[in-house]
Amino acid sequence: MSEKTVRIGAIGISHRGSGMLRLMMRFKGVICPAVCDIYEDRRDDGIEIVKNSEHYSGYQVNGYLDYKEMLEKEELDAVLVCTTWISHARIATDAMKAGLHVGVEVGGAASEEECWQMVRASEENGKFCMLLENCCYGQAEMAIFNMVKKGVFGEIIHLAGGYEHDLRDEIAYGREIRHGRLYNFMRRNGDLYPTHQLGPIAKLIGINRGNRFLSLVSMSSKSRGLNEFLKKEKGEEYDITNFNFNQGDITTTMIKCANGETISLIHDCTLPRPYSRNARVQGTKGLWMEDGNQIYIEGRSPRHEWESFDPYMEEFAHPLWKIHKKNAAKYGHGGMDFLIMAAFVDSAKNNYKPPIDVYDTAAWMAVTYLSEQSVAMGSMPVPVPDFTNGMWIDREPTRRGIFCLDEVCEEYFTDEEILTKI
Ligand SMILES: NC(=O)c1ccc[n+]([C@@H]2O[C@H](COP(=O)([O-])OP(=O)(O)OC[C@H]3O[C@@H](n4cnc5c(N)ncnc54)[C@H](O)[C@@H]3O)[C@@H](O)[C@H]2O)c1
Repeated sequence: MSEKTVRIGAIGISHRGSGMLRLMMRFKGVICPAVCDIYEDRRDDGIEIVKNSEHYSGYQVNGYLDYKEMLEKEELDAVLVCTTWISHARIATDAMKAGLHVGVEVGGAASEEECWQMVRASEENGKFCMLLENCCYGQAEMAIFNMVKKGVFGEIIHLAGGYEHDLRDEIAYGREIRHGRLYNFMRRNGDLYPTHQLGPIAKLIGINRGNRFLSLVSMSSKSRGLNEFLKKEKGEEYDITNFNFNQGDITTTMIKCANGETISLIHDCTLPRPYSRNARVQGTKGLWMEDGNQIYIEGRSPRHEWESFDPYMEEFAHPLWKIHKKNAAKYGHGGMDFLIMAAFVDSAKNNYKPPIDVYDTAAWMAVTYLSEQSVAMGSMPVPVPDFTNGMWIDREPTRRGIFCLDEVCEEYFTDEEILTKI
């Protein structure tokens, strides 16, 4: 595998984009001949990152301020898109139309149409669009996936999760740090960032493969967190201290699935709190709760008592984590960033169907605009489009392999060094 090369351009070189570009350049055979950001300094940073990477072999690296010009002029196999939320789908669609595979950072969609555009561009051009949802490869999430597949929780009934991250400084100082979140919190109101929780949940219950999201309802609280924060940090005189932010401090969304499961999501980024994804997976035999690191399995746990999840994580470790664990600490977000990037590079290099495809990308991202619609209509239920156009009922088999997120493919883990050969 390692003698193959793949030419991947990078679009969006801010905090996340530069980290992901650095990570991508650690893989042998990855050539990045072009980088792009609308800011000159970030574009130039991108060029430097490539040129300073371990496997850089002296090739020309071109910088662009306009991604369309880059797509037109460069000969690429794929692009890595780490731009702001409202540009993801547009850039992904244009890149697939230009004949490139896409790895796109997480965020929600602003409209139904942009989800369909991604789906159509992928189908019509035979190119994949992989949402780089790193949380699908989290150590705990993968152990839970393994347990669900082994039936430890029985039949799954209810799932929950939250993006509960105090981002007040990143949002409030959006103009000063040239960050994309601020205007979204000013103007939108809904679950703006659903996929960290929803990605792993969707894979657990076979969304788009025998199951699908049917409808959702969403409700947002009032908005006070950013005003309080700005008052304390900047005083009353600061121009947006008393701005009437549309985005409620807490948005709660409930999704109903075709196979009867319910999913509850919380978006919580503007109040003081420690980070949590607040996951819960509950079935007919027991449940796991991320907060508190606790689990209860009927017949195994002492009656009516929580147990620590730690021994379960060890016992039910996903085979990917058995080999990745020793190196995980070297990479971002506890090692899951490495796995999502490895899965993207592996798919792009080998023209494989990716573990997260355009139907997953569209369905997960859609929750944002659907949640905005529901909030705007006083929490009315809204139907979730079926982006597979009926294929979910009887999909073709998944592509098995070490990065597969639909099955645990034990038979592929024969080689301890497999991750060094991507
Ligand atoms: N998976 C994770 O754990 C994780 C963590 C952090 C951020 N993210 C996601 O990564 C993305 C980037 O995050 P960030 O914090 O770096 O955001 P950011 O707003 O700081 O950076 C976005 C960059 O994209 C550039 N950009 C915007 N539109 C562009 C266009 N049309 N062409 C070229 N460049 C364009 C901006 O100039 C900016 O440099 C976001 O979607 C964010 O949600 C994911």
